[in-house]
Order: sequence, then structure tokens, then C-alpha cells
Amino acid sequence: SANQSPAGKQPTATYDSAFLRACRREPVPHTPVWFMRQAGRSLPEYLKVREGIPMLESCMRPELVAEITLQPVRRHGVDAAIYFSDIVVPLKAIGIDLDIKPGVGPVIEKPIRTRADLARLRDLTPEDVSYVTEAYGLLTRELGATPLIGFAGAPFTLASYLVEGGPSRNHEHTKALMYGDPELWADLLDRLADITAAFLTVQIEAGASAVQLFDSWVGALSPADYRRSVMPASRKVFEAVAGYGVPRIHFGVGTGELLGLMGAAGADVVGVDWRVPLDEAARRVGPGKALQGNLDPAVLFSTRQAVETKTREILDAAADLEGHVFNLGHGVLPTTDPDALTRLVEYVHTQTAR
Ligand code: CP3
Repeated sequence: SANQSPAGKQPTATYDSAFLRACRREPVPHTPVWFMRQAGRSLPEYLKVREGIPMLESCMRPELVAEITLQPVRRHGVDAAIYFSDIVVPLKAIGIDLDIKPGVGPVIEKPIRTRADLARLRDLTPEDVSYVTEAYGLLTRELGATPLIGFAGAPFTLASYLVEGGPSRNHEHTKALMYGDPELWADLLDRLADITAAFLTVQIEAGASAVQLFDSWVGALSPADYRRSVMPASRKVFEAVAGYGVPRIHFGVGTGELLGLMGAAGADVVGVDWRVPLDEAARRVGPGKALQGNLDPAVLFSTRQAVETKTREILDAAADLEGHVFNLGHGVLPTTDPDALTRLVEYVHTQTAR
């Protein structure tokens, strides 16, 4: 119909939003801003609606998911919403016995470490996550021209939780499997790639206007190991959703040495943490990609002046980029002052208004 965009199901106003234009490396009215973990613990209105409801259960209630997803859009005026969920939701949906422990993160009762364990990772069908489709329906109606970002955990980061049985500093069991049984490792990552691709596809079909693949912990690997043992699975995920034409964002922490490879895996936008300036990141990523980032989330605990100075440095480093989406270098920290986030959105918008 007349108000349908070239990229499928979204309205023209969404397609023309600053966020999606920046992802496509087109001219923008201002630099778009959103925050990883914008929906969550730093907001009193979030704590209120979540009261007494365990994290994973809250992800399965469409009305609650929609409300939490909308909260930071209303409060901060960010340029995109991110769907409220967690990277382990698709694993829970196929019957993996896991929980999210407050203050800890995802914990898996029986870790996946053997060939026999692989059989527990069955394919994900849209029926397994019907609540996701339902929540997207509520959200796309409410959001108007504001794009909605879908997301999933990348195969390596999901594997780390599954193999370790929970959060890990050194990823020792994960690396033991990767180096000790490369064939089983490759099969595990390939299974996870299929599950992740299916989960992203559900979200795009339901109305996601961009997707982000979180490979949060892959910075633990060298470029050679990334290329050999992780990149094929991440590439499979990106290729599976390429046909939809929605921007694909790829993010990890401590990935300065991997930025080029993470872009080459199939991302349209590469997320950068605060350790590499964006002009240097652009050299490492090469042409044809937009960048996302990269304010250190801890800076938000400093003075208003310090936040503005550090933000100005990022905008200057981004001046010659083909496309820039402003974000933090990792998620919003739980005790961040929400007003500091609101001020930051306003500062980026006014500083970059064209
Ligand atoms: O960005 C958003 O606002 C959308 C919501 C979102 C959550 N998790 C909600 C959540 C997103 C995008 C995620 C992704 C996620 N989950 C990642 C990748 C992003 C990153 O930070 O690198 C990872 C590694 C996870 C795994 C996970 N889940 C962790 C490490 C934790 C934190 C544990 C803790 O409590 O300190 C979770 C739990 C979680 N996911 C919470 C939220 C709001 C907190 C649970 C709660 O409020 O009870």
C-alpha cells in the first residue's frame, strides 16, 4: 500500500526515521540515540511494574513487555525502542532448564558439554514464542514512527552460558570445548545459529525494523579463534535474515581487535565499546558500514559537564562516519540516574541538529 516502505511491513514514517536512515548511511536530521538496556532497572516505573514478577516470566506477558519497552521511549525521547526480553528467552522457549537469577544473570541447571547434550537444543518454531509475536503486535501499534529493535544473543555468547552453566569471567569450560573438540563445538554453534536465526525471523516478521545480535562476551577470543570458531555461525545468522532488508547490528564488549571481522560476518552496523574511538573503529571496520556507540556507561555517574565533554569527543570522532547511531559502549548500569540519560539524548539531538 501507499504507506508501506521498500523494506516490507513498516510504515514510511518509520522507514524514514533518523535511526533507520543512520543505519542505512543516509543523511539524518540529527544523530539518533538509543541505549542498550534502556528498558530496565534504572527506571522506577520499571521496578514498579516488575514487582513480584520473575524476569523470565515478565518476558512472556505481552502487555507487560509492551509497557516496559515503551517506558524509556516516553521518558527519554530516544530514537528507537528495544524489545524487552533477554538473550536466553529462545533457549527457555525450547525447553532448556534455565533461570535468570537477580544480580547474577542466566543460570543453567545442567550445562551442555557433550554430544548427547546437543539433542536438547531442538529447533525453535514461532509457536514456541507466540507471546513475542503478540507483544510486537501491541508495540508496533503504539510506537508510531519510532522503530523497534529486535535482538538475540549470538551463538558464542549463548554457548558460553550453556557450557559454563552461568555467567563466567574466563569462559574456561567454553574454551576447553572449543579447543578440545572442535567438531562438537562447530555443531553446537551451528545449532545455536539456527535457533537464533529463527528467533530473529519471528521478530522481523512481527514488525522489528532492525535487529541487533549481541555477542557480548566474544571479546575473550583472539581474531584467529574468532575467524575459525565463531564467525561461520554468526555469518549464518546474518545471512538467514539478509533477505528482509532490515539493518543488522552486531555488538560485543572488548572487541577492538575483532571489529573488522564482526562487520565482515554480515553486519550493516557495528557496535563499538568505549575502548576504541569511533574514527579508529571506522578504519578497522572499513567502508560500507555504519557504527554504533560509544560512551562509557560509567561516565553517566560523573558531572553534567563531564558527560557533555565525553559526548562531544564522540560526536567529533564520528563527524566523518558514513552513519552513526549514538549509544553507550555497553548497557545502562542499574544505578544510573534516569535524568542523566534524558539530558544525554537532548544534548546529542541539539548538538547534531542539521
Ligand atoms: O536493552 C534493553 O533494554 C532490552 C532488554 C534486555 C535485557 N537483557 C533485559 C534484562 C537486553 C537487550 C538483554 C540482553 C542481554 N542479556 C545480554 C546482552 C547485552 C549485554 O549486556 O551485553 C546479556 C549478556 C544478557 C544476560 C543477562 N540477563 C545478564 C548479564 C543479566 C543481568 C543480571 C543482573 O541482574 O545483574 C540479565 C538479566 C536481565 N536482562 C535484566 C534485564 C532488565 C535484569 C533482571 C531484572 O530486572 O530482574
